[in-house]
Amino acid sequence: MKYIDEVELSNKKVIVRCDFNVPIENHKISDNSRIVKSLKTIEYLLKQNCSLILMSHLGRIKTREDKAKNSLKIVADELSSLLNKEVKFINNPVGMDALMACKQLSPGEIILLENARYCDYPEKLESNNDMNLSKYWSSFADAFVVDAFGSLHRAHASVAGISRYLPTYFGLLIKEEMEGLVPVTTNIVHPFGVFMGGAKIDDKLKYIKDLLPKCDYLLIGGGIANSFLYACGYDVQDSICTTDELTLEELRNLVKEYKEKIIMPIDFVIDDSKILDLGVKSIDKYTKYFQKCKTIFINGTCGKFEEKRYAKGTVSLFDAIKSIDAYKVAGGGDTLNVINEYKLNGSFSFLSSGGGASLEYISSGHLEAIDFINNK
Ligand code: 3PG
Repeated sequence: MKYIDEVELSNKKVIVRCDFNVPIENHKISDNSRIVKSLKTIEYLLKQNCSLILMSHLGRIKTREDKAKNSLKIVADELSSLLNKEVKFINNPVGMDALMACKQLSPGEIILLENARYCDYPEKLESNNDMNLSKYWSSFADAFVVDAFGSLHRAHASVAGISRYLPTYFGLLIKEEMEGLVPVTTNIVHPFGVFMGGAKIDDKLKYIKDLLPKCDYLLIGGGIANSFLYACGYDVQDSICTTDELTLEELRNLVKEYKEKIIMPIDFVIDDSKILDLGVKSIDKYTKYFQKCKTIFINGTCGKFEEKRYAKGTVSLFDAIKSIDAYKVAGGGDTLNVINEYKLNGSFSFLSSGGGASLEYISSGHLEAIDFINNK
């Protein structure tokens, strides 16, 4: 599979699948970094005089109401102001308007189709990689460019399916990500320390299981740490944690098997009977582990960082990493949010735009969409 700068795409009409799944608060984009990261590919293709049909998902669409809450219109406006150029927004990813707009598109023009996951309601066509939908979208263009690194762990119709029907290439963001992730995937220098935080253990358990044999230390925070602590018999009161017996059993077994690798917190910030951040001693303990490492991967936060008073643990930990001489990668929406908000970019060697995607790639060495596109 080739990158766009290795092939001739001049004057072509191209579908570019981006990951514009950006955080939105009070009807405003609170972190536009995923849009900014897409500019390289978009600008490159515009220079080649291509006409661009941009696609993305936003949120998850399970009900009619979800559609209204997850329109990409806000992204079209942001992109237009970043590019200083009109980005025409088509408010349905399928149908006559989309078809006609794509047909009439001239070289150098850009349209953004509405959220591809609108096709997940009432039938789950996008997420089930429906081949009719993929074929339909492929009829809009001459080529397909996949640049949505953050979505590559999903073999969905707009990420992977279209590749069955059009010449397909990877964009420059994927190239940057693949290069930036080499030291945490194929060329890991040990000791390799991973910090995994965030609210829910269920979403991350499979990654934890894959990462444990590969890493030297797994430091945990947030709801993930609470679940491990609860599984080991600690009273976490009303804190976020799983109560699913099977999961708790799995966590207990992991702690037994990887006693030396799983590193748990020792103090907390507690309010209203809930653990909301890691305490100073835990941060100090985690920093000491990281100081032993040559490679570090961070995914998630230590606590309820959205409220400033509970962001201290996360900020202190990320800040402490700055002076450590190691290859340091961070990935994931919340993680990048904190890094941008508290200007902690200097602590990291590489920031991945993927959350689930970077986790899947680092833990298993695979990405579902790439496997599909490569016909594996
Ligand atoms: C992400 O934010 O990790 C990607 O955009 C994928 O989103 P998803 O988990 O809803 O598929």
